[in-house]
Amino acid sequence: MNFELILVEPQIAPFVAMVRLNRPKELNALNLQLMGEIRDALAMLDEDENVRAIVITGNERAFAAGADIKQMAGRTAIDMLKIDQFSTWDGIRRTKKPLIAAVSGFALGGGCELAMLCDMIVASETAQFGQPEINIGVMPGAGGTQRLTRAVGKARAMEMVLTGRFISAREAQDAGLINKIVPVDLFLDEAIKLAASVAAKSPIAVQLAKESVLKAFETPLQEGLYFERKNFYMLFATEDQKEGMAAFVEKRPADFKGK
Ligand code: HXC
Repeated sequence: MNFELILVEPQIAPFVAMVRLNRPKELNALNLQLMGEIRDALAMLDEDENVRAIVITGNERAFAAGADIKQMAGRTAIDMLKIDQFSTWDGIRRTKKPLIAAVSGFALGGGCELAMLCDMIVASETAQFGQPEINIGVMPGAGGTQRLTRAVGKARAMEMVLTGRFISAREAQDAGLINKIVPVDLFLDEAIKLAASVAAKSPIAVQLAKESVLKAFETPLQEGLYFERKNFYMLFATEDQKEGMAAFVEKRPADFKGK
């Protein structure tokens, strides 16, 4: 596949791929082409047996400063409906493998939403998260009002969405939005390390576990518990379950095959 606005590295570490947003002059503003390329790259990596976890990153200055305002500015509601850009986002959300966002600098609007759509976030000390859409007469549209509220609670989400205030990496961590803060020269390495630790597990168990955690946001408790239980039972059909438990009993490292 040929990509213009992203760089794809299928093996940045064993079983770990990396997708880098690459519109640095525009602070990785998310135009339709960029989002389409991210979706296509993730679909390709999701099919690749040599990939078990995927890191999504930008650069030191910006993860992404939001949807491309210049591209959106003149659109009508009917244009927006016809373009239906969020079906691309739905495609990204369907990625079965774990996604780890490595965030430095700005993660704003759609950029913050893209980071939140990932399963974990590693941030540099300079990272700033925000939903500033209110400043340009709109509101979050790619999950910001929902995922941010679930992650940081109503009070902080309401303040961020209604005032457009950015929060620092420290505040984001205190609020439970991100997993880790590291110095700026280490944020990508640390995200790759986290991805590699997930990639060392049984990929089938990881996939079903990810699916089950995400269910917690979508279902009442009893239904979520039922879903979790079925996935748990299903893992006993895998060779990795036999290997993982045998390795524990024999006091040796497990060798997971993804079968
Ligand atoms: C298009 C953008 C952009 C964006 C930055 N740029 N953000 N272009 N869309 N979202 C461009 C600038 O126009 C400029 O290009 C270049 O990137 C550098 O930006 P500066 O503003 O000169 O940098 P700085 O002064 O450091 O300010 C950084 C900033 C500011 C605070 C991040 O750029 C900013 O406020 N950006 C917009 C943030 C925002 O409102 N995001 C939400 C968008 S709506 P030129 O060529 O002009 O110099 C949204 C809706 C999501 O995300 C819906 C789902 C997809």
